[in-house]
Amino acid sequence: MAQLAEKPAPATLRVGKQGDPCIMVIFGAAGDLTARMLIPALYNLARADLLSKEFAVLGVARAQMTDEDFRKRILEDVRQYCGDCIEDATWDSFSRRFYYLAGDFNDDQVFLKIKDRLAQIDRDHATHQNVFYYLATAPSYFGKIVEKLAANGLMEQTGDHWRRVIIEKPFGHDLESAKILNQQLLKVADEKQIYRIDHYLGKETVQNIMAFRFANGIFEPIWNRRYIDHVQISVCETVGVEGRGSYFDHAGSMRDMVPNHIMQLISLTAMEPPISFDANAVRDEQAKILHAIQPLGDEEVLTRSVRGQYGEGTIGGQHVPAYRAEPDVAPDSRTETFVAMKVMIDNWRWADVPFYLRTGKRMAARNTNIVIQFRRAPFVLFRDTSVEHLMPNQLVLHIQPEEGISLQFAAKVPGPVMRLGTVDMNFEYQEYFGKQPSTGYERLLHDCMIGDQTLFQRADMVEAGWNVVNPVLDLWKALPPRNFPNYASGTWGPKEADELLDRDGRRWRNFEK
Ligand code: BG6
Repeated sequence: MAQLAEKPAPATLRVGKQGDPCIMVIFGAAGDLTARMLIPALYNLARADLLSKEFAVLGVARAQMTDEDFRKRILEDVRQYCGDCIEDATWDSFSRRFYYLAGDFNDDQVFLKIKDRLAQIDRDHATHQNVFYYLATAPSYFGKIVEKLAANGLMEQTGDHWRRVIIEKPFGHDLESAKILNQQLLKVADEKQIYRIDHYLGKETVQNIMAFRFANGIFEPIWNRRYIDHVQISVCETVGVEGRGSYFDHAGSMRDMVPNHIMQLISLTAMEPPISFDANAVRDEQAKILHAIQPLGDEEVLTRSVRGQYGEGTIGGQHVPAYRAEPDVAPDSRTETFVAMKVMIDNWRWADVPFYLRTGKRMAARNTNIVIQFRRAPFVLFRDTSVEHLMPNQLVLHIQPEEGISLQFAAKVPGPVMRLGTVDMNFEYQEYFGKQPSTGYERLLHDCMIGDQTLFQRADMVEAGWNVVNPVLDLWKALPPRNFPNYASGTWGPKEADELLDRDGRRWRNFEK
């Protein structure tokens, strides 16, 4: 194993300044996202001393609770989801900054109450009147909440204070609705105030794609159509719909994963080097890739996209039910729980290099990775040996659950005859950097506190992502699937996904545990 010149000390977010003084208002403070991600992420930031001393939280939700109830609740959240012990000193100063307001987001009165509470909290915590709103609500509220905030003067940035809003996914249901939501937001707020979150960008391994490509001299020269045969992006999950049947049955895997998470992975893998880490410099390059992806015509949708739905099966030795038997899912549902696609990026770097994407629930193993397959070496040298074929090199960016990078190459098998074996050179994050307590939201919340939009999606990026998937969704709607369910839980998806690559003489690389 190669050695790192100097091992950095393990710490959550090693370097970084504290966030600005501010209040975070969480709409949907009694929900799952708040409990599982936001509160633990704030706690991790507090432990790493990255929250301003002048920081406070106002939770807003329908549930009736007092400030004290809310504080008890977040203690439970941290106990359950932070996975290690709570430091008393940190906890005291942390929990004292939490407040709660019960109310319905449709009720105008609630926004007046928010205004009063913000003024009070600002007096108590000297938050410089900086506020960011986190919309951890059902998507149907996104536009309405921001409009009501603006109508009550709560988005105004007079003087030197700032107001920002973080919008969760899904951002729209299709291209049209995403455009409408963007217009609705941009009517009352500036693009610089809008932080469209994609939690994939909070993952260290996703951020590392840029570091890997642009901080190393050896990869960029071969990162193009001359050396790369094709790219595979897989986001395979073993979970089903996890009690979210009513949302998922209207969304499906395409909307849930592709225009957002998978487009982020493609754009970071394929983008040109930005001229700086400035938010717009990075996002301009990502957007160019999204615009260069050729939307599929009707014929191409039929030959280059695959949809699937899981039937019952076995995962980890456990029998699991079919999608149609999940709670809140229609018994004859035609919603896809698996998608595979072949897309082409029409630019000088990538012309003729297919990008194969797939994502699915209830698959054989949980694994998110990007496989870069290089062109095969010329065979001539081995013609008169016992070597029958040469395996192409593969570079794999392992996003999760394994986090690292591996390079597969051929090596001579020891012995008198020329025989080749395939071996791996491996880098594992944990081995070098230790395990970090992280939900993936820490960096994103902190970035919002310091006004860095680099890891957030801009309006044009969201629309460009939808632009890629919209023709597929339209044709799928016009031609409902007849063969669902078409893959058993615990497998690698429908056979058509294998055929998609077979037709091009290629194969998915599957990573079993
Ligand atoms: C969410 C989707 O955005 O991402 C879920 O709505 C999916 O359906 C999840 O399971 C996957 O996230 P992660 O971080 O577990 O890969």
